[in-house]
Amino acid sequence: AAPGWTARADVVVVGSGIAGLTAALGARRAGLSVLLVTKTWLDAGSTRWAQGGIAAALGPDDSPDEHLRDTLVAGVGLCEEDAVRVLVTEGPARVRELVEAGARLDRDPAGRLVFTREGGHHRDRIVHAGGDATGLEVQRALLEALRSDPEVDVLEQALVLDLLKDADGRACGVTLHVIGQGARDGVGAALGRAVVLATGGLGQVYASTTNPSVSTGDGVALALRAGAEVTDLEFVQFHPTVLWLGDLYGGQQPLVSEAVRGEGAFLVDDGGERFMQGVHELADLAPRDVVAKAVLRRMLETGAPHVWLDGRAFGEEKWRRRFPTILASCREHGIDPVRELVPVVPACHYASGGVRTDLSGRTTVPGLYACGEVACTGVHGANRLASNSLLEGLVFAARIAESLTAELPPLAEPVADPRPAGVVAAGVRPRLQRAMSDGAGVLRSAATLSATLDAIDELSGPVSGEPCTECWEATNLLTVSAALASAAVLREETRGSHWREDFPGRDDEAWRMHLVTTLEDGRL
Ligand code: SIN
Repeated sequence: AAPGWTARADVVVVGSGIAGLTAALGARRAGLSVLLVTKTWLDAGSTRWAQGGIAAALGPDDSPDEHLRDTLVAGVGLCEEDAVRVLVTEGPARVRELVEAGARLDRDPAGRLVFTREGGHHRDRIVHAGGDATGLEVQRALLEALRSDPEVDVLEQALVLDLLKDADGRACGVTLHVIGQGARDGVGAALGRAVVLATGGLGQVYASTTNPSVSTGDGVALALRAGAEVTDLEFVQFHPTVLWLGDLYGGQQPLVSEAVRGEGAFLVDDGGERFMQGVHELADLAPRDVVAKAVLRRMLETGAPHVWLDGRAFGEEKWRRRFPTILASCREHGIDPVRELVPVVPACHYASGGVRTDLSGRTTVPGLYACGEVACTGVHGANRLASNSLLEGLVFAARIAESLTAELPPLAEPVADPRPAGVVAAGVRPRLQRAMSDGAGVLRSAATLSATLDAIDELSGPVSGEPCTECWEATNLLTVSAALASAAVLREETRGSHWREDFPGRDDEAWRMHLVTTLEDGRL
């Protein structure tokens, strides 16, 4: 449908997690007008669910170089070192600014920041808030700052559809499908001198994930349709410890932060064996891919549907103080971690790949920027280091804001509405999620991936006549799943979070490189 209304600002920011809010606030500080659009409500995305914290070399015995080293090791040879250097050297200042903006991070009685540890870190370098509610506090502080600026135009219930370009092929806005927002209702256009994609992740391509239901890969799908390069999509991280609620339970699942292991809890199998010992020098605190793989292997060996996390040594006081969110969610499901073992399994958690950017957040489409989980800046490689994601959002969103001030052309008019012919029916979503979990999930092979791609083909038609938010989400999930599974077929090795059963070894000679995906004439 042709846009029924048009809104204008210097910068259109799409998404309201840590990256989108930081970019919007940065653009405002530079004196630019901002229209921030978000798919449902301002606080609905993944940021609020982040538990562990933010990794940054802020401690007296730490250094950016050590943080860099741990990040590169976790990324298994595919991190871009210049991007990681930016992350670890600029990160501490960005965290301090977050504190200045009002985020209340946990401190000791003397008022000093306290640090915890997670998988892959050789130092306690993760700051947190509310014990295990870091994302919630970060989002609260950033939203408060945003709401105190009357010049930021916010549009909620606004699903982004496609990128608009001017006659020179430069991004000049997006089309949106908006529900119930007065004059800006239905399909409309938000025009800007630059567009910042901060739409978050794509975890909903799988049947079970820690991601909220809004994480449907909208930004990656939009970027592909707009001709942007997307990279490293095959590297989807599975978090090793997600609360097991029974095999039939799907959708968003409760996370049990790595910080629980960072504080001394450990994994055991049905027989009580601490199976991470001997697997890696860091044992239960090995990088995330190593732990998730060991958990799965042990499940396959024992036939058990999950393994166990033992945090009983903490006692009630520590659970309450340090992990109130996890304690509550376990108890809500009838498990008392103070006295009982907690059943855990791996589940989809984070997309290490995404829309390819340079060090200033520029995508390969002029005028289109990306930051946060939707972006691939190169800092995560084949496996993101724990608690580097909030940091990445802060650091690269701030860089975008900085570069915008130097780069903005005048507002231009779009040449045409790029919306392709149709969308699939909303009912495609659960069938797609099953096919992705079965064939393109934790374990993959040429055979399982080919079955998944066949299922994707089958689900891609027929087209529904009545576009709705759920249909667009299902369409985006299909686009992203096809790109992800196609990249996973091509990478014939096992590296980081990409585990090919038919190619179990890492192949540095052939595969120490990135796979770049584009969509041309509807073909990947
Ligand atoms: C966690 O708290 O275990 C998750 C942290 C992360 O994903 O970086």
